[in-house]
Amino acid sequence: KQQPTLKIEGDVYQTDEWTNTPDTILSHVGRRLYLDDNHPLAITRKLIESQFPAPTYGNYSEKNPVVSTRLNFDFLGFPPDHPGRSRTDTYYVNDKTVLRTHTSAHQQAYFQQIARNEKTRPEEVGYTVIADVYRRDAIDRSHYPVFHQMEGAMLWKRPATDPLSASSETAAKVLADLEKIPRHDIVVEDPNPTIHPQRNPLQSAHHSAEEVEAIGAHLKRSLERMVIKVFTEASKAAAASSGAAGAEPLKVRWVEAYFPFTSPSWELEVFWQGDWLEILGCGVIKQDLLINSDVPDHVGWAFGLGIERIAMLLFNIPDIRLFWSRDERFLSQFRAGEIARFEPFSKHPACYKDVAFWLPPAAVTGGSSAAGGAVPFHENDVMEIVRGIGGDLVEDVTLIDEFTHPKTSRKSMCYRINYRSLERTLTNEETNEMHLKVREKLVGELGVELR
Ligand code: PHE
Repeated sequence: KQQPTLKIEGDVYQTDEWTNTPDTILSHVGRRLYLDDNHPLAITRKLIESQFPAPTYGNYSEKNPVVSTRLNFDFLGFPPDHPGRSRTDTYYVNDKTVLRTHTSAHQQAYFQQIARNEKTRPEEVGYTVIADVYRRDAIDRSHYPVFHQMEGAMLWKRPATDPLSASSETAAKVLADLEKIPRHDIVVEDPNPTIHPQRNPLQSAHHSAEEVEAIGAHLKRSLERMVIKVFTEASKAAAASSGAAGAEPLKVRWVEAYFPFTSPSWELEVFWQGDWLEILGCGVIKQDLLINSDVPDHVGWAFGLGIERIAMLLFNIPDIRLFWSRDERFLSQFRAGEIARFEPFSKHPACYKDVAFWLPPAAVTGGSSAAGGAVPFHENDVMEIVRGIGGDLVEDVTLIDEFTHPKTSRKSMCYRINYRSLERTLTNEETNEMHLKVREKLVGELGVELR
């Protein structure tokens, strides 16, 4: 059933037992929504890029989503057993190749580019890069298997070959650059020390505390400015549409985080309509990455964020599938440079259908993957089957019941699938037909027993 090769962006890849990328996913490659000037993802991109301007930053995009497992995981320090590497979470092209799960897969290339251009473009010491990224995940209004991330970083070249002895000089350079970033007057909560021995350790073999304080301060002010700009625009748009007077003052806070490729690491959260929302992840780049990129004499910071989540807030877009719509009633509502509130053009009826099944008996689930032998059950595999059949006609899939039979110890699951098109009313026949196919495929591919 598996094709022997996959063709992606003109290149041909051999498939193998790791391959799990369906054509329905590949059909999204190359849309480049972030380059359609009047598309909300492109408008959001431009707004963020405006806070990372030339000549310090180059603003880039990466069209081809195919990357090596080395650059997506190994280089970045993901341990061999990290769940992100599993076939239930990631689209593999083959055992050594994936559809990138994050824009961090391009860090090495951009670090090297900065060093390579040192003579010709000495001011360009930072970058942003936007790209489509791919993850096997749940189906609901805020998750789609293809979404967009923007990553950015800034590097400083150290003055001497013995880095630690020159760290004060580096720190002074970073602080001088910090002074060039305009201040803002928003109160930012930042209760934790920059360095925490367990949770946010200093890379003491490579950095001095002084240097990391300076890099952390530069990172924080740069990202605060960007987030304040974006959310000031969002509040303005929200206030204009609701007719409300002055919006509440923005609340922003830093929290400690963990990423395999930064230390210390943080997330920036914004208080928005009653909730703290995580906007981005960031940190001081692990020196091993720079050493392994042949730029051992540089230090720096990096961040990454999801574009859809921000665009949904800016434009009040209620369902992530809309970004892929080719419906003029959606596309005609947006214009380059403008943050307009989306006017839903219609809401078609939902059609809920449940499917309940027994998981294969434990003896089968635990077995090796001999012919037909089942692998342990993972919810993402249910999602993938529904996605493969229903595509954008499924709004969400939720687990509504789960229990283990007291005598047989078999496990039963019940999922509710909400079939609803964004563009039209679905007929009974077509939803029934999709649902029947989902049921058949659950049996055929996961070996479950329908109830
Ligand atoms: N790649 C991370 C993610 O997808 C975000 C990140 C980028 C964090 C760069 C730190 C530095 O969540």
